[in-house]
Amino acid sequence: MAPPSADVDTVTSQNVLPIHEKLTGNGKKAIPSQFPAPLKYLGSLDSFEHFDVTGVIGREFPKLQLSQILDDDIKIRDLAITVSQRGVVFFRNQDITNQGLKKLALKLAHLSGAPKESGLYRHPLSNYKQTYAIDEEGAQDDEISLISSEQRRGWWRDKVGHTKVLASGGWHSDFTFEHYPTAYGVFKVVGAPEDVGGDTLWASAYEAYDRISPVLQKTFESLTAVHRNPGFHSQAKKGGFELVQGPRGHPENITDKDADAYEAVHPLIRTNPVTGWKGLFTGVNSLQAGHINDVTERENEILKDYFKQLFIENHDLQVRVRWGQDDIAIWDDRSVVHVATNDYFGKRTAYRVSSVGEKPYLDPKSTSRREALDSISTVV
Ligand SMILES: [Fe+2]
Repeated sequence: MAPPSADVDTVTSQNVLPIHEKLTGNGKKAIPSQFPAPLKYLGSLDSFEHFDVTGVIGREFPKLQLSQILDDDIKIRDLAITVSQRGVVFFRNQDITNQGLKKLALKLAHLSGAPKESGLYRHPLSNYKQTYAIDEEGAQDDEISLISSEQRRGWWRDKVGHTKVLASGGWHSDFTFEHYPTAYGVFKVVGAPEDVGGDTLWASAYEAYDRISPVLQKTFESLTAVHRNPGFHSQAKKGGFELVQGPRGHPENITDKDADAYEAVHPLIRTNPVTGWKGLFTGVNSLQAGHINDVTERENEILKDYFKQLFIENHDLQVRVRWGQDDIAIWDDRSVVHVATNDYFGKRTAYRVSSVGEKPYLDPKSTSRREALDSISTVV
C-alpha cells in the first residue's frame, strides 16, 4: 500500500547515497542521537504485485526479480524501508547470483543509514574454511554462509526429523553477541527440502514490545542486557575447526583469542533507525546464555521467560514461509527473531549474507509501531 503523499519526500538517487556520510560527518563517529529521522518510503515498489502475509509481519512480492532492481538505489532503499517496516519480505524463484546477494545486502544497509565502517558479516564458524565452496566452481568467500542440512547433521549430530526437544527452543536473532550486530539478513534457498518441511518462522520484536504495559515498557527501556554466545569456541574445539580471525563485519566486532565467549551489552528496548520504532531486543535464545543487568537473579530468570513467551506464544505476531526452489527472504535482524523447522529428512541448502548495521541504541524520542501506525491512516 502506498504511503500518504505527505509522507513522500523528494529524495533522489543523488542524495540517497551519502546517508552514512551525514551520520559520520566531520570525521566524528556516529552516536545514536545523530541518527536522522525515520526514512520515508517513496513508493517505488508499489507497481510490483505484493501482499501482506499477516497483519503484523511479512510481505511477499511473488513476481519481482531482485536482480532487476539491484542497480536502482531508490528501489533498494525503498526495499530496505519495507523490510524494516514489515520485518521480513519474501521473493519467489529468484535468479540473483551469490555476488548479487552480497551487493544487495550491502546496499540495503548503506542506503538506509548504516555506518560506513559496517560491511558484510563474517560468521565465526560458518565460513569457507570449514571445507565448502560457495559455488560449483569452487569459489570461497567468508562473507557468505552455507546453511546446509548435510553439514549441520555432521557438525551437530542432529537427529533430523526425529527430534524430541521443544521446537520453540531455536528462536533467535542472528549475531546479537556482536557490538555491531547485523541489520539485514538475505537468505536464498538454493536447494529446497527434497521431501517436505524445513519452513522458517519470524516473529516481530515491534509487536512484542507493544504487548507490554506502558509502565513495564518504561522500566525495560532503562535496562541493558548481556548477549552471550559461548558455543562457537566449544564447537570449534570439538570439531577441530578454525574460528574466523579478525573483524566480523565491523572493526569493533573482534574477540580476544582467549575469550571464552562472544558477548556484547545492548539496550533491552532498541530503536530501529529506519522506522524509528521500538522493539524488544532480546533475540530470545540470544539472551539465554547472557543476563539482564541490574535485576536480581530470580528477576532475570522470570524476565527472560516472559520475553521468550511474548515471542513464541503469540502466533499472531509470527509469520511462516514454506520454501520453494530459489526463494529468498530478507529480514531485519534488529526487529525480528526467527527459527528454522527441523522436521525434514532430505537435503536442504541455502546461502545467507548478512550486512552489519549500527551499534544498538534506544532513542527516547522513538515510538512504538502501534503508535506510529495509529497516527497515520495509511501506511506502507
Ligand atoms: Fe539465524
